[in-house]
Amino acid sequence: MKTYLVTGGAGFIGANYIHYMFQKYNDSIRIINVDALTYAGNLENLKDVEKRRNYTFIKADICDREAISKIFEENDIDRVVHFAAESHVDRSIRSPEIFVKTNVLGTLILLDCAKNAWTEGEGYVQGKKFLHVSTDEVYGSLERAGEYFYETTPYDPHSPYSASKASSDMLVKSYIDTYKFPANITNCSNNYGPYQFPEKLIPLIIHNALLGKKLPVYGDGKNVRDWLYVRDHVKAIDMVQELGSLGQTYNIGGHNEKQNIEIVHIILDTLKDMLPEGDPRKERISEELITYVEDRKGHDRRYAIAPDKIKSEIGWVPETMFADGIRKTIAWYFENAEWMDRVTSKDYQKYYEEMYQFREDGE
Ligand code: NAD
Ligand code: TYD
Repeated sequence: MKTYLVTGGAGFIGANYIHYMFQKYNDSIRIINVDALTYAGNLENLKDVEKRRNYTFIKADICDREAISKIFEENDIDRVVHFAAESHVDRSIRSPEIFVKTNVLGTLILLDCAKNAWTEGEGYVQGKKFLHVSTDEVYGSLERAGEYFYETTPYDPHSPYSASKASSDMLVKSYIDTYKFPANITNCSNNYGPYQFPEKLIPLIIHNALLGKKLPVYGDGKNVRDWLYVRDHVKAIDMVQELGSLGQTYNIGGHNEKQNIEIVHIILDTLKDMLPEGDPRKERISEELITYVEDRKGHDRRYAIAPDKIKSEIGWVPETMFADGIRKTIAWYFENAEWMDRVTSKDYQKYYEEMYQFREDGE
């Protein structure tokens, strides 16, 4: 039975990954989820799996070397899948320091603990693998139509977030080159889907539209992002870890470029279509809520991934068309309106205390 150490599993993509992995492998794997439970981490995202005997949650900061090395000492970890990060560009513009701490120092500590635990003689214990989850934002901004990010595109990050992720990627590359460390890097485009925190564009627009609140669009609304349904991303991560060549980077994306303003219109149209007649929320939804606001500082114009390598070497292709993915996402937010209320009211911290206080007390 393989043991996975997943960092940041209480966040958006990490929680989707854990659900996917248990659906796929059921009782034949064990997952240890290490998460510091920052504002973005929510154990409620994992309610469905928390009672499984092959799942363990450990509250720890990846910057805490002692805590992380103890986890490697006490468990024979076969796979590391590293999601934990500060992930929001706007927050990085306001408070860059925590991005460097978590994304750069945290990644270094995790790499180092894995390297120490896995070292055997001159090499490593057979079969161990580390996957670093990163972003296409490290490649910078595409200004001309028809250009794409390839694995060979030089790094050119602009925001403190993307600079910190680029640094963490470089550290992983340095471990691969210097220590022959068994790792892969994936650089994925923008994700959307269930459990995404409503500070990011898609859940924010869904949430505000349903409340009849203003829909903030930065600048001229024509910045382009390449959207991928989160389940397609987590499937790709598993395929890269099992089928990819060690030491290699794989770009993940689905050729689904859209301007932000198009996304807002698609959400409004889909909401209107999905809500039943007579639902008071339907009456609130209106194009008039769209509000152009001051642009984000250093706002990258366009991201677009060329997923040729992952397709040809690994056989991964995206499966979810945007029209289906956005309906599934909106349906999830309808069904989980209380999740949204609690996340926005911070009640989930209470949930954590109720669920896990006894463990912290050492009982
Ligand atoms: P998220 O912000 O939803 O979740 C991050 C998780 O990491 C949270 O559970 C948080 O509590 C945890 N965390 C933060 N600091 C920590 C620390 N010091 N120690 C332990 N845990 C900590 O982020 P996400 O959107 O799920 O992104 C996950 C990863 O995927 C990130 O590395 C991000 O850079 C990358 N990524 C995200 C996207 C996207 O569109 N969201 C796209 C490509 C890559
Ligand atoms: P976001 O979801 O923050 O992801 P990222 O910055 O990592 O791409 O933003 C997606 C795009 O939407 C980005 O171009 C900024 C824009 N945006 C808005 O126009 N309004 C908003 O309220 C937010 C959060 C983002």
